Amino acid sequence: MSNEVIVMKNISKQFKVLNRHEGLKGSIQDLFSRDYKIIKAVDDVSLTVNKGEIIGYLGPNGAGKSTTIKIMTGVLEPSAGEIFVDGRMPYKDRTANSENIGVVFGQRSQLWWNLPLIESFNLLRNIYLVPEKDYRNMLELYRSLVDLEPILHKPVRQMSLGQRTLSDILAAFLHNPGIVFLDEPTIGLDVSMKARIRELIRGLNEVKGTTVILTTHDMGDVDALCKRIIIIDKGRKIYDNDIEHLKSYFGSYRTLRMRLGDDSWVEQVIDEKKTDVMHVMQEMQKEHKIKDIQLQEISTEEVIRKIYEGGESA
Ligand SMILES: Nc1ncnc2c1ncn2[C@@H]1O[C@H](COP(=O)(O)OP(=O)(O)OP(=O)(O)O)[C@@H](O)[C@H]1O
Ligand SMILES: [Mg+2]
Repeated sequence: MSNEVIVMKNISKQFKVLNRHEGLKGSIQDLFSRDYKIIKAVDDVSLTVNKGEIIGYLGPNGAGKSTTIKIMTGVLEPSAGEIFVDGRMPYKDRTANSENIGVVFGQRSQLWWNLPLIESFNLLRNIYLVPEKDYRNMLELYRSLVDLEPILHKPVRQMSLGQRTLSDILAAFLHNPGIVFLDEPTIGLDVSMKARIRELIRGLNEVKGTTVILTTHDMGDVDALCKRIIIIDKGRKIYDNDIEHLKSYFGSYRTLRMRLGDDSWVEQVIDEKKTDVMHVMQEMQKEHKIKDIQLQEISTEEVIRKIYEGGESA
């Protein structure tokens, strides 16, 4: 069997949307208008994903990330190009495809709102015909990776956003799919919950060998989980390589912010390959009093800006 689980060749997706006019007169005008514009949400993207990879699929707002995931999951049919997910065309073979994938769209739960989580699990087990033994083993694995008890008997509607996200991820992996799509799973979560979610994803990927496609605006997610990243912007792929390659090309990912004696903040970009944070602080302390420090990850948006500035391409 081939190692390539997703193959996209020159995939495009266009949306035809009405060019809206303002005001009441405009709205009436729109009713009869044939004034359309074409949005190229995904524009001639080719990529290959290998079994077991965790891919960071990044890009600014409106770049086409979610549209790509909808094409991969068979929700949308591409306007042009070829796509194979485990050898199938997802939009033509939605049922078979859905048996082999799991999906989490951040903030939109796929679970039964009023049911305790364990009952949602039971329904999913029946829908996907998960053998009893596999189901038990999976729950066992879940217990080893997260603290299941506080959420297992809780209805989803009573859960915090973090608990719901955990539950959604567990539900997506329950039938042991080959590929799981996570569209912004850590959005809106606090630092410690983000860390738990990352650990869970990493654990499931390691034990089950699941391929994971992860979209996120959080460079911390990417740093913790992804060896390879693909970046799209305005529908076009602008980068596809190991994250280490990006780091070696651009150096640092962190900005050290220091609050001095007079309460002013100074910032210094740290190239972690060349200097370490402690050294920078010690140097600074020779001249100034440091009252507070913050260490900031640079955002995916900044990474993208740097790619353009550096003229680096995929
Ligand atoms: N159903 C639709 N009809 C019309 N336009 C759409 C539709 N879905 C997406 N678009 C447009 O396609 C482009 C890509 O949207 P998409 O949701 O894929 O971006 P994204 O990278 O997921 O962004 P975000 O980071 O904000 O989630 C945007 O310009 C969006 O407005
Ligand atoms: Mg999106």
